[in-house]
Amino acid sequence: MNRIPVFTTVLEGNELRYLTDCIESGWISSEGPYVGRFEKEFAAYHGRRHGITVCNGTAALEVAIAALKLGPGDEVILPTFTIVSCALAVIRAGATPVLVDCHPDTWNMDVAEVARKITSRTKAIMAVHIYGLPAQIGPLRELARQHGIHLIEDAAEAIGLKYQGQLCGSIGELSTFSFYANKHVTTGEGGMILTDDDDLAARCRSLRNLCFQPPRRFVHEEMGWNMRMCNLQAAVGLAQLERLGKTVARKQEIGAAYQKYLRGAPGLELPLARTADAENVYWIYGVVLSDSVPFDAAEAAKRLAQQGIDTRPFFWGMHEQPVFQRRGLFAGEKHPVSERIARRGFYLPTGLNIEPAQIEFVSETLKRMVAPS
Ligand SMILES: Cc1ncc(COP(=O)(O)O)c(C=O)c1O
Repeated sequence: MNRIPVFTTVLEGNELRYLTDCIESGWISSEGPYVGRFEKEFAAYHGRRHGITVCNGTAALEVAIAALKLGPGDEVILPTFTIVSCALAVIRAGATPVLVDCHPDTWNMDVAEVARKITSRTKAIMAVHIYGLPAQIGPLRELARQHGIHLIEDAAEAIGLKYQGQLCGSIGELSTFSFYANKHVTTGEGGMILTDDDDLAARCRSLRNLCFQPPRRFVHEEMGWNMRMCNLQAAVGLAQLERLGKTVARKQEIGAAYQKYLRGAPGLELPLARTADAENVYWIYGVVLSDSVPFDAAEAAKRLAQQGIDTRPFFWGMHEQPVFQRRGLFAGEKHPVSERIARRGFYLPTGLNIEPAQIEFVSETLKRMVAPS
């Protein structure tokens, strides 16, 4: 039986040509010219002044928090339904994460709850675009403006996604990205921070590069990291960026095909194809099992795997993470929407070269599995 992988990467553009150029020129470190080119092109695509590459999306969040000098006593509001990287960045900085639940229909953070949780200690909102639909970044930006607090926008899953016609990642004071292999632009591992603020850009550049100082290189005023991206990664990233339009169109085609096969299927809650703000780009195609289905997502994944279909579980809320609970964080917190979709949600294969017949097979297998007997 041929397994249908949850994701596959396509590297069919200039990736090999640019990599060959790196090898032939001998430029493989972060000093090579593709790093600057990729930063410039990626920032320009988003209409931003500065792009600062880093080694992954988790690092991008850590650098963003450090650039804003957030630390002990500062609260950062973020969704509980997200990747652990978001909470880690806040906690590692010594700041306090304040969690909000998500909407049952878009799986993105609840803006009304963000507004309720703003206190005199709140210093930033970390907005995260989830699974192919945007957070309500307009109202979040307005809240941040009204309260004089920072807005970090995590657009790792939203490269090429538009919110009210504006690209995600073009809106936050600092916007972060991941270029892991399953992202719309990949460098294998990699990340980027975009900003229009010259001082923040300079701080990000310094922090990701050990806070070397131009006049006295080995004298350090601050603690930085080596979170640099190398020329080989940037070369792949530049080629990937050239193909971004095709990649997003392909994702939308895959999403539309799943919608066609699964629409109206009893037992399944499907992602919204569009909201008032956006067209879904289906970074992943997630489904949530209705309460009428007598088993959970873990069981569904096991049964689909037996049919050769690879899936992934949804995020597990930050407030339910043993590692944070052991530190005394989020004690007694309840976020019912995130708790439900963590247990009943999972995503289907969305590899860029998945075939129409495979999408049909996955859909029909899933429908049969959840159909009332
Ligand atoms: C929303 C979000 N933020 C951050 C990250 C972390 O990126 P990375 O895996 O490159 O560290 C991810 C990773 O998938 C993500 O989905």
